Amino acid sequence: MTATGPTLTAEYATTSPLQVRIDTHARHSEHPDDPLTTVAAPLELTGSEALADIGCGDGRFLAHLIQHGHRGRLVGVDNSTAMVTAVAAIPGVQAVTGDAEALPFADDEFDAVTARHMLYHVPDPDKALRELERITRPGGRVAISVNHPATCARTRRLVLDRAAEHGLAPVAGMVNDVNSMTLSAMMGEVFGEVRTDRCENALVFDTPAPLIRFAEALFSFCGIDPASPHRETILDAVTTDIHDWFHAHPGLRWRDPKGYIVATAIVR
Ligand SMILES: C[S@@+](CC[C@H](N)C(=O)[O-])C[C@H]1O[C@@H](n2cnc3c(N)ncnc32)[C@H](O)[C@@H]1O
Repeated sequence: MTATGPTLTAEYATTSPLQVRIDTHARHSEHPDDPLTTVAAPLELTGSEALADIGCGDGRFLAHLIQHGHRGRLVGVDNSTAMVTAVAAIPGVQAVTGDAEALPFADDEFDAVTARHMLYHVPDPDKALRELERITRPGGRVAISVNHPATCARTRRLVLDRAAEHGLAPVAGMVNDVNSMTLSAMMGEVFGEVRTDRCENALVFDTPAPLIRFAEALFSFCGIDPASPHRETILDAVTTDIHDWFHAHPGLRWRDPKGYIVATAIVR
């Protein structure tokens, strides 16, 4: 482990690694899956709701809602300046810098609140859940998506093994233990009844280049800081491993199982 390990702040200082991961899922999923639609469906939106997306990243969920005719207030919240800047460029969306654990909104301010693939980054997820509940009006809905714990474990293992050769390992504070196995029970404590929709899938690659790009986009979560002196050496080794695998397995695809849940609750 290095003295200066990766941090969430550095990981989300630009939109790039997140966009590489999202684009990879969009292009290389074994079965068609649109996570934006999957989160929106259980909200049963009519288009007039006031909706806040917490940890909204580059705001693509809110842009998706506008494209599908949403007319109500749309707010994107993130604690990364780069993400908030990206969201501010989407016409019709209010971009707010904020922390999921202390949201800058009044009680019952929204009809619907989402937290998509972000709760596993929050230091105190219970506190964040209570904030989501607080800002949602009674009868409003909260939808939260998180990954299966072993999502993309095969590609992560490849990077983790090469990182370990340089004494690097995942650092505390990047990802907590909120995943598809733990989320429903945690939400149940705050919201009562929780509906869960599961998505099972896999990433599949039939050429090395997109897999190498995806593997590099996992570096921070494997303990490799962008400024690490070992970064280029590790990337070279991972690149060689991936090319070697494709040479040794002609005609085969690299398959890496993945999945997530969307857990939805109606606020009491
Ligand atoms: C994995 S990305 C997901 C982005 C987006 N929700 C999506 O699914 O495309 C996690 C996002 O949560 C943001 N984030 C992490 N911790 C946060 C916190 N405590 N409060 C608000 N945003 C946070 C990050 O800056 C990043 O944009």
